[in-house]
Amino acid sequence: MDDREDKRGSSMSLSTITGTEVFDFEPSEQLMSLLMAGANNVLDVMLGYKQLMFACSSAMKIVRTKLEILDNQFQMTYNRNPIISIKTRLKSQTSILEKLARKGEKPTTENMEQHVSDIAGVRVICGYIDDIFKVEELLLNQEDIHLLERKDYITQPKPSGYRSLHLIVEVPVFLPDGVRNTKVEIQLRTIAMDFWATLEHEIRYKKDIDNTDLLRRLESCADAINQNDLEMQSIRMAMDQVKEPQEDMDILMDKLRKIDVPFR
Ligand code: GTP
Ligand code: MG
Repeated sequence: MDDREDKRGSSMSLSTITGTEVFDFEPSEQLMSLLMAGANNVLDVMLGYKQLMFACSSAMKIVRTKLEILDNQFQMTYNRNPIISIKTRLKSQTSILEKLARKGEKPTTENMEQHVSDIAGVRVICGYIDDIFKVEELLLNQEDIHLLERKDYITQPKPSGYRSLHLIVEVPVFLPDGVRNTKVEIQLRTIAMDFWATLEHEIRYKKDIDNTDLLRRLESCADAINQNDLEMQSIRMAMDQVKEPQEDMDILMDKLRKIDVPFR
């Protein structure tokens, strides 16, 4: 086996682990002379950007795993899952540039890191309103999670009717060349709030609605949804109060149930 084959062999195993394609390439003479002529500044910029995205994507995975662990433990203790689903997304390059332009900042990697706090985005959908605040408390109690900003649009909804809890946190990402503290925006909302926000976003997307009647109707839908959220929570709390007399057998059964809780 010559050197070349050997290298390809290790690339193959790396691509299996990361699921990404690894490719060998021979830069053309034109590309090499372009780089030598100073265009490698461009590569430095691109590399800096790539490293930022890598840190953001890693931070997003860390937050997701922390939330999944909390949800699993909650299931063991209280026999129900506060988190229905978790979605993650990396902000697109165009949206990042749009945001910098809106803030009047130059499009540099440093500015992206400093001024765009939602490159890494995690959306947490909970069953009930009180689950949102419970998940927040459990997450923020963790030593390596540092809260930078909190916007509670549940206690104080936006004029549109939008409700969610927004947290900007910083998590340490351990990389071969050191620790990189990375920002993640976490949006927590109930299924009902998510239903409203998703449809409202779709209705308003790329349209500046100035029809006040339509806006008022959308807001009134948000209020109705909130009433339902509060009512469902109150029903669940009342059910929680109903304590059935526990016999020895029930205690054993409960332990069996906990042992059988599946890992999600
Ligand atoms: P940007 O992050 O630049 O948008 O501004 P900001 O930081 O002041 O915004 P904020 O934290 O209040 O909310 C940002 C995100 O919340 C948006 O990207 C949406 O996902 C969501 N959001 C805020 N307001 C609304 C709304 O009225 N309707 C819907 N559907 N989503 C909203
Ligand atoms: Mg924001």
